[in-house]
Amino acid sequence: MRTIDWVPAEGVCPGHIRLVDQTRLPGELHELEIHTVDALVDAIGRLSVRGAPALGVAGALGVALAVQSLPAGEVEAAVARLRAARPTAVNLALGVDTAWAAAREGGPEAALAAALALRDDDIAGCRAMAGRGTALLARLLPGRPKLTVLTICNTGALAAVEHGTALGVIERLHADGRLDRAVVCETRPLLQGARLTAWELGRMGARYDLIVDSAAASVLAGGGVDAVLVGADRIAENGDTANKIGTFALALAAAHANVPFLVVAPETTVDTGTASGADIHIEDRGADEVRAFHGVPTAPADASARNPAFDVTPAALITAIVTDRRVVEPAPAALSANPFRMSLNEEEA
Ligand code: MRU
Repeated sequence: MRTIDWVPAEGVCPGHIRLVDQTRLPGELHELEIHTVDALVDAIGRLSVRGAPALGVAGALGVALAVQSLPAGEVEAAVARLRAARPTAVNLALGVDTAWAAAREGGPEAALAAALALRDDDIAGCRAMAGRGTALLARLLPGRPKLTVLTICNTGALAAVEHGTALGVIERLHADGRLDRAVVCETRPLLQGARLTAWELGRMGARYDLIVDSAAASVLAGGGVDAVLVGADRIAENGDTANKIGTFALALAAAHANVPFLVVAPETTVDTGTASGADIHIEDRGADEVRAFHGVPTAPADASARNPAFDVTPAALITAIVTDRRVVEPAPAALSANPFRMSLNEEEA
């Protein structure tokens, strides 16, 4: 399955974007044909396409769409709207910037070539993270032939192009016969864990238990979970990591239970232009998503509610960050410095 891809021009039809509409899962695997930048911005806002790596590819393909379909005078504003469609995942801005730079240099073909290169890099990068992540787990947890791992949100194929990041590691464990089971946090308020991760694990034939988010701390404290694996939307230069709301709480609970806490994300999610987690813009998705789900009220209609979509896990709580190129372990002694500047305890392999 390709979560997002480019459909090449055929005859008089120009090229366009095809993506899985994740709002319809797990009920229906439905693809959207995206022909305009405005439709793409809308799909991103509604989370039809979501997850940092997929957003990066969407942003780059969106620029290719903009330069082929819009009058020259409208392209720059459309590219800016696309770049601002969601603020936290650095991959979206990076994907847009990469393809836009190529477009200005070499026109529509160059923009498309840059976007397709990002797509292909994502596929190769997720494979590399799966290999590096499973090897790290073997090193951190020797003598445990089968692992139970806990995860949050969706970091699978649906959040990337073909394979995932943290869920890509879990998929590889399963393929290697090293997964006992996954424990999946449902991920309120939009249920990416329950709707998407459980769906992906089911398709893989992997065993899993879905839990409500508030059960995670006691499940970890009770033993029986070997490691926590999460993705990332932006990793600051000091290793602080923004990811789906609830990730910070998992890291605290994992530290309490002495369970390794791994972040798995492509190098493109590392933002060395952001010094620390305090500088990361956290998306606020508004009160309605907390007061109702799919139109069904879950609270009084006038309830005051907060809805930060992400939180920041301090580097001190992260055992290791696994990228497509390296493993960075923000060791406590190094935390006054910046792990991504100084490459401390870094394993290139
Ligand atoms: O709001 P979402 O569903 O886009 O949030 C996604 C996450 O928080 C993921 O964990 C993150 O983007 C990494 S996806 C490989």
